[in-house]
Amino acid sequence: MRIALVGLGTTGKVVAEYLYQQQALTLVFCRENSPDAGRDLGEVLHRPYMGITIESTENLEDKLKTYKPDVLIDFSSPKFLRENLVTLAKYNVHVVTAVTDYSQMDKKRMKVMTRKGRIGVVLAPNITLGVNVVLKLAAQIASVLHSGYDYQVIEENHRNKKDSPSGTAEKLAVAIKHVLEKVRDTNHDIPIHSIRAGDMIGRHKVLVCGEYDQIEITHTAFSRTAYAEGAFKAAQFIFGRKGLYGMKDVYGLGGKGYLQEPLKMEPEEKEPVGVYA
Ligand SMILES: NC(=O)c1ccc[n+]([C@@H]2O[C@H](COP(=O)([O-])OP(=O)(O)OC[C@H]3O[C@@H](n4cnc5c(N)ncnc54)[C@H](OP(=O)(O)O)[C@@H]3O)[C@@H](O)[C@H]2O)c1
Repeated sequence: MRIALVGLGTTGKVVAEYLYQQQALTLVFCRENSPDAGRDLGEVLHRPYMGITIESTENLEDKLKTYKPDVLIDFSSPKFLRENLVTLAKYNVHVVTAVTDYSQMDKKRMKVMTRKGRIGVVLAPNITLGVNVVLKLAAQIASVLHSGYDYQVIEENHRNKKDSPSGTAEKLAVAIKHVLEKVRDTNHDIPIHSIRAGDMIGRHKVLVCGEYDQIEITHTAFSRTAYAEGAFKAAQFIFGRKGLYGMKDVYGLGGKGYLQEPLKMEPEEKEPVGVYA
């Protein structure tokens, strides 16, 4: 499997290093006009020559024809897939996107594109196994402790993180709300508290607080390698598949729709496309 990576920022650099160790990395894309274009990856990672070229996304079609990647892992920004998903689908390049601040419209587009096209996409705002287990636990707790308990999500991330709250925090809040709506008559959003400070890698806490006791579930990432591992696992999963998937599919944590996102679809889009989380 030939993997391309887009985004060589705080997380992308660690992902590049990890994929290189797995001997899975074929090329890295950077932004048009980036000073990194044309350099060897080793120069950017402050390592000896690695033999992996960094290419700009300019004339993407030509580069896909030359390098023929099977899967593209995306740690860039929503703009990249907005502009290039059609081209990637044209060249049968499957996608794992870890980018977190997609709009509902972006997600709808991915759903429609994967239905029509020949590629698979993993939409992974929460890429680690640990966070996916926390998502599952939070939904299970909400199905039992629904009366007399308040739910809050608290997330901490590094000072340069662009989106706030994080995609994972939003997903936790939606998952809990979704379960509570089913078992009790409420449609209150679950409050999310975001902290942006220093170089915190990522901590998500669900606080379940009753009158006499409380439960806390916390996931703390110690290293960005956790994101790289998840992305590599998702790439192995999506290679050869079609449709839109989430990380619960990658990790086999399915269950019956424990995390279905309330994605409002137009009537003609209602038929299922792959499995969406
Ligand atoms: N799913 C998860 O569990 C998870 C974990 C970690 C991070 N993330 C997400 O991954 C994304 C990146 O995070 P980060 O902290 O690494 O951000 P970052 O430090 O800002 O890095 C983003 C990188 O992507 C590049 N980029 C942005 N738009 C691009 C485009 N259109 N074409 C090509 N390259 C582009 C940037 O290039 P320039 O520097 O030239 O702008 C930069 O190198 C964010 O959405 C973040 O939330 C998700």
